Amino acid sequence: MVRVGIDRIAFYTSNQFVALKDVADHNQIDPEKFSAGIWQENMAVTTADEDAVTLAANAAETIFADGSIERHVDQLLFATESGVDQSKAGGIYVRRLLGLNNNCRVVELKQACYSATAGLQMALAQIRANPSLKILLIASDIARYGLGTPGEATQGCGAVAMLLTANPSILAIDEEAGLHSDDVMDFWRPNYSDTAMVDGKYSTKMYLTTLKACIKDYRQRVDSLAFDHLCYHLPFSRMAEKAHKTFCRETGTKFSADEFAEQINAGLVYNRTIGNSYTASLYIGLTSLLDNQHIAEGARIGLFSFGSGCMGELMGATVQPNYRQALHATKHSAMLQDRQQLNYSEYAQAFNFNYAKDGDEQVLPLQTKGTYRLAKIANHQRHYEPTQS
Ligand code: CAA
Repeated sequence: MVRVGIDRIAFYTSNQFVALKDVADHNQIDPEKFSAGIWQENMAVTTADEDAVTLAANAAETIFADGSIERHVDQLLFATESGVDQSKAGGIYVRRLLGLNNNCRVVELKQACYSATAGLQMALAQIRANPSLKILLIASDIARYGLGTPGEATQGCGAVAMLLTANPSILAIDEEAGLHSDDVMDFWRPNYSDTAMVDGKYSTKMYLTTLKACIKDYRQRVDSLAFDHLCYHLPFSRMAEKAHKTFCRETGTKFSADEFAEQINAGLVYNRTIGNSYTASLYIGLTSLLDNQHIAEGARIGLFSFGSGCMGELMGATVQPNYRQALHATKHSAMLQDRQQLNYSEYAQAFNFNYAKDGDEQVLPLQTKGTYRLAKIANHQRHYEPTQS
């Protein structure tokens, strides 16, 4: 059977962040609650001239920038729960910004933090049937709960782009997976709200309940649940510890503390300093694992995707020979080094930035260091352009 999976993967986040210690100090909370309690150090804060579309375009640009990959794909799947329009897909702007071919199927996908995984499976099924297909999958989100809310420390932003092909250079993904869906109200965002609503403790419980159900379903389809590393959806980094304890308990696997850390810690490096990026977070976690740990070729990686509401999926994947040559680890590291730290009031000001909603022209300040930006809003239309045009 033809191997299908991830041929290239790259992520992007904003060039500004706030330290959670400063958020804790402002809210008169013990900073240890964030560092030791949820394993988060910083969170990325969007600039005024970026949104889910620009984050997505900037993530994908890394894949094409050196010219080794042709700017031609058969489909562009855009997964987000921070969409900028109820009607037009964000991927339509992204295709044009990247200079990709017009004869390309473009669509936006939604199911909370899970939708990138739906996109992945839809794409891979098509590639199995037609191995010549090249599909660009982008997950992009801005996690917003509000200043002073319990969810505040679990905000963040980021996008990840994956080129999906047959005979992939990085990761081959199995056809069988464990699935579970239920109708629950743990996290949601009504159309009229620009911040999420959440029943925090219940959402964590639903995450773990869904993981257990996915393990059970996976077992009914696949013989072995043996993985060398696991990447989990990361609303906050310590969720991986909770999830991995559940995974070990459910599968009856015993590990030393060192082995436990070896299986999950490299996947948390980026999330600890970016925060939640909803649809992108599992795959930024995967990028973090691949970039930051030398993994044996042929190693098995388990991936758990969770979207509140809810939908979960547990997948298995195999690391490909010479995979490191296809990574963008140096670029990712330089991007994170090059970020500017905001103090609390600068972060609060950025969070409360008012976008025009009355149709008047609003020219946005040049703040992003990304290749693409939101230049203005006028007549209720968003105008995206290259940063240096
Ligand atoms: N020193 C060390 N640890 C401390 C501490 C201190 N001073 N103070 C608190 N802690 C620990 C707590 O004991 C707790 O650890 P345990 O989980 O082991 O009990 C941890 O820090 C967090 O403390 P609380 O449970 O008291 O925190 P909280 O109730 O204020 O908020 C939260 C935690 C529920 C995750 C909240 O941030 C939230 O609602 N976040 C948004 C929702 C979310 O992320 N849900 C996750 C699952 S849903 C999902 O995955 C989809 C998605 O992306 C949203």
